[in-house]
Amino acid sequence: MQGAGVLAVASAFALPAAAADPTVARRRVKLAFDWKHALGHAADMDKDFGFGRDQRTYAKTGGSESSPIALAALATFDDSAWTTVQVPHDWAIDLPYDPGPGGFKDDQDDPRAAHGYKALGRDHPENSVGWYRRKLDIPADWAGQRVGLEFDGAFRDVVVFLNGIIVDEHDGGYTPFTVDITDVAKPGQDNWLVVRVDASLGEGWFYEGAGLYRHVWLTATAPLHVVPNGAFIRSEPRGSGAVGKIEVAVRNQADAPQNATVRTIVSAPNGLEMARAETPLTLEGWSDGKVEADLRWPTAPLWSPADPQLHRLTTEVEVDGVVVDRTETAFGVRSAVFDARRGFLLNGEPLKLLGACCHQDHAGVGAAIPDALQDWRIRQLKAMGCNAYRASHNPATPELMDACDRLGMLVIAETRRMSSDEESMKELASLIRRDRNRPSVIAWSIGNEEQAIQGNETGAAVARTMKRMVNRLDPSRPVTAAKDQDFDTGVSRVVDILGFNYRTPQMEGYHARFPDQPIMGTETGSTVSTRGEYILDVPGHIVPAYDREHPWWASTAEDWWTIAAERPYIAGGFIWTGFDYRGEPTPYARWPSVGSYFGAMDSCGFPKDNFWYYRAWWRPEPLLHLFPHWNWEGREGQDVEVWVHSNLDRVELFLNGRSVGARDVVANRHLAWMVPYAPGVLEARGWKNGRLVATQRRETAGDPAALTLTIDRNALSADGEDVGMITASVVDRRGRPCPHADDLVVFEVSGDARVIGVGNGNPVSHEADRADRRKLFNGLAQAILQAGRTGGAITVTARAEGLRPAVLRLDAHTVRQST
Ligand code: GAL
Repeated sequence: MQGAGVLAVASAFALPAAAADPTVARRRVKLAFDWKHALGHAADMDKDFGFGRDQRTYAKTGGSESSPIALAALATFDDSAWTTVQVPHDWAIDLPYDPGPGGFKDDQDDPRAAHGYKALGRDHPENSVGWYRRKLDIPADWAGQRVGLEFDGAFRDVVVFLNGIIVDEHDGGYTPFTVDITDVAKPGQDNWLVVRVDASLGEGWFYEGAGLYRHVWLTATAPLHVVPNGAFIRSEPRGSGAVGKIEVAVRNQADAPQNATVRTIVSAPNGLEMARAETPLTLEGWSDGKVEADLRWPTAPLWSPADPQLHRLTTEVEVDGVVVDRTETAFGVRSAVFDARRGFLLNGEPLKLLGACCHQDHAGVGAAIPDALQDWRIRQLKAMGCNAYRASHNPATPELMDACDRLGMLVIAETRRMSSDEESMKELASLIRRDRNRPSVIAWSIGNEEQAIQGNETGAAVARTMKRMVNRLDPSRPVTAAKDQDFDTGVSRVVDILGFNYRTPQMEGYHARFPDQPIMGTETGSTVSTRGEYILDVPGHIVPAYDREHPWWASTAEDWWTIAAERPYIAGGFIWTGFDYRGEPTPYARWPSVGSYFGAMDSCGFPKDNFWYYRAWWRPEPLLHLFPHWNWEGREGQDVEVWVHSNLDRVELFLNGRSVGARDVVANRHLAWMVPYAPGVLEARGWKNGRLVATQRRETAGDPAALTLTIDRNALSADGEDVGMITASVVDRRGRPCPHADDLVVFEVSGDARVIGVGNGNPVSHEADRADRRKLFNGLAQAILQAGRTGGAITVTARAEGLRPAVLRLDAHTVRQST
């Protein structure tokens, strides 16, 4: 990672695989490879493979071979001209930009801006429907099992066909859904899975992607099985051990009644069994039942962001001595309490929420994030000092949630629509059922800035209905909502914790008026900045990276954090945002900006200077960060504003060996000097308790001479999915970083791997993301390297005209693979 000391987090924790047991029917196979993809059409049926043209066909299950519901749904359809893609896949990232006619009265009114000017949506029917096809191997010995598909989420409005028959339709782009395909699947024969995805209508005011942008799974279970997300454990520390209240929902999808034993086993993080219960259950044919168990065990290492210890709950369904189903659920033992006076308490101790709001996209790949990149993003946030993540404003993909459980990141989980209509309630319920075992989740957010209802009785009524259901499905966690006005009324009077979006100074008055309600900053700060830039350039859409510029509703990092840090009753805050994201271009809500400037990191996860502000005050390690760069050719003798973020006691600044002055550090504030520019070496020296503990230099670099490459990993898994994050940069002939370098870098890969996306963090760049080349932006570019499935040595070479190339070597190790 960029410069920061790499945080020591446990390497990927995997739950020990259940012992291979041929009597257990449950299987789950990721469908990652060998998908074919083509665009259809949202307005022209001919270009949409005939979908919906003939109502007599559409009205009949499966249509007919001569007149199918859609040509592309036929097994015999020739898809050889379609592109082979890997899922997760986001076709929106490949679309051209459409700046539109412009001329809106208010830039915020331009609907194209929201999605980052990608040519998607109602104005672009030719780009807004995507089709996916894949042959499905359903083994012959799955006959007699319940066969299903699981979608972690697809954007959006999905029609799923199996063997020409529509087996499901699903709207929401962020909610997982399962499809029972037992009746239509043909075990042992060729099956064709076809998915039509229609992204014409978005759900958010930000870039959302399009397509099968999350994982898809093929599943099998015995007719008698634990229902999806049907195992729920509420655990609590008790002395040095723990207690757990367990519910397991079981379903019998067979005619005959079943007498079963449901076994629940708790295993400690070290894998040792700690407690078990066995409960008899009789189920009529085609019915659901539930068992409950209370377990207690004597020692339980607690889960926390600093030490994310994961327990495991195993549930087994046994009939006549044979285990027919088994599920494994990771959980953590911890207590999490919001207190109106003491803020948030984890395991009994106050823990300030040092949070970041994040959207789900990343440079290079859009919304289709490989699992290893989810981990990398969470690690970047932890390196900044974050212990909390707000999944704004939608359910995150489960792999992101897994990363939070595994790496130690608290989460505010949020539903997309604040509404009590049936569909919204279903979406909320699915979020809660999916994530209620996770130790990371500390609160459910039922809404964000619903201006029409947040302050009135309608909002309160909607919130009450939503909260009632949340409490029923998960009695253990509080409910929150994020508001930006009308703080005293409406929704505020219903939720357990009130979330303030910005307006941090208003929190004190609110606390005085409502001293019994916990509060937190659900969106805070929101400095806008361009990484590596220090001079405002409005026509160029460049914002200096000092902690200064922010929209009218927001504040600087320093302004909100100095308030929150000093007030224990403020549970903490979630900065808007951890990373720059596509869409919602701010502060320039117009072309050529295609992304936001809010991030403490840019869209590649390269730290901006505010990253170091937070790291200084959110992490305990001594830190000193000096900026800007020291290449101000042509400005000799003119003042340059120099800042330091440091958590030491005192910092002295030197230019070419001569002191420019020393400053005492004031907690949670930056230091600043005005320094007349002269080329050479700018150096900051930091003291703690009278000892020099850190120095940092910025040196005037000469002409670019050579490329450099670094990667976050030295080995990848050869599973076809693992990724390494590569940083390319440029140095002069003496190895000094060149802060303005903008060379076009071409990445060549030999061995079994490929670059799946590139980026540089420039919010006005319109270069292709899924490419093998990218211009550096202020000295940096990123390439995402994905391993193939063969393994072996991989070499990445970066070339740029006139510069010495850089070479990186790593290995990919063979592992078990998806299909
Ligand atoms: C908030 C909103 C966020 C984002 C942000 C931009 O009002 O909740 O989603 O739009 O403003 O400043």
